[in-house]
Amino acid sequence: MRDGQIRAAPGFGVGEEPVRLVARTLRGIEDVLAEEIGGTVERVGHREVWFRDYPAPLGLRTADDVFVVATTADRIGRTRADLASLAAAVDDIDLTRTLHDRSRCGGKENCTGVDVSASALGKRTYSRFDIEDVVGGRLAQRLRLPYWSRRDGVPPANCLSWRVSVVGDEATIAVRIAERPLHRREYRTASVPGSLHPPLAAALVRLAAPRPGDVLFDPCCGAGTIPIEAARVPGVVAVGADIDPRAVAVARSNDPAGLVRWAVADAGRSPVRGADVIVSNPPWDRQVATRGTLVPQRFSARRVVLLLPEHVDLGGQRRQVSLFGQRPVITVLDR
Ligand SMILES: C[S@@+](CC[C@H](N)C(=O)[O-])C[C@H]1O[C@@H](n2cnc3c(N)ncnc32)[C@H](O)[C@@H]1O
Repeated sequence: MRDGQIRAAPGFGVGEEPVRLVARTLRGIEDVLAEEIGGTVERVGHREVWFRDYPAPLGLRTADDVFVVATTADRIGRTRADLASLAAAVDDIDLTRTLHDRSRCGGKENCTGVDVSASALGKRTYSRFDIEDVVGGRLAQRLRLPYWSRRDGVPPANCLSWRVSVVGDEATIAVRIAERPLHRREYRTASVPGSLHPPLAAALVRLAAPRPGDVLFDPCCGAGTIPIEAARVPGVVAVGADIDPRAVAVARSNDPAGLVRWAVADAGRSPVRGADVIVSNPPWDRQVATRGTLVPQRFSARRVVLLLPEHVDLGGQRRQVSLFGQRPVITVLDR
């Protein structure tokens, strides 16, 4: 097949080469993502999990994004001359196979352009834009599609989006499977101050490990991210409440199918007694003010999972997350 001609295949088949995949997530929840992926994990690294042959990678809830790995290249040094090695690595990519693998993983075809997002750790005499333009220009030429440089702003929708990460002297070149990052949920049409990053909400729910039939309650639900993520777990009854009626209205608007039970209530006088698990990111008088009689220390359930500021220590199992410059702590309390 010539470059520029892309054919799809129906699914994973006997005798097919393994599909190499990499998923990105937040620092601190890589192991939760690895646990969600399960048996085919090959490597867990900084903000990423490498795995293979996963039939439905677009269904991963704790990943920010997921890519088919096209190639890895070593001996990528720190000077501009090394950009030629990156260009050579692009020329060596088996594009037919990479795009075939992307289709098998659920990627749509008929993309109308190419864009590239790059990151490089360590001091180098070239910038991320230099990497993007070298890789993107070459890919666009091979695919016979226009290249959209990020120097000119955000690329248009419906591009084939590539990612290049250079760590030490090794570069990974990968293509996004979905049209947009997985963390951008279809349901999230509105938010409130302090609204949670959806993959982190999904990770909190996984750490709560609700069983079928369990009531999972978020007493400070804001825009409803946690209960909406929880409602996707088979058999779980998800309930969300907030003291602010406007927040509950936003949560309802994010849940048009009515998968969650919503209520306006003060968490200190909760309408839900006997929740099996509580999962929440309660306000701590920073970005969002505490109102009413909220005392998160008194939340009572078999398991309580809270996202709290670094300085608040309620005991239990703690793990720090890196969330866009903040470092909140996930606290898991078993009662
Ligand atoms: C950090 S936000 C939660 C964000 C939410 N997880 C989301 O994804 O949108 C905290 C929420 O707690 C609510 N809140 C403050 N005091 C409360 C109280 N006493 N009872 C219930 N909710 C309260 C605020 O109205 C706010 O919506």
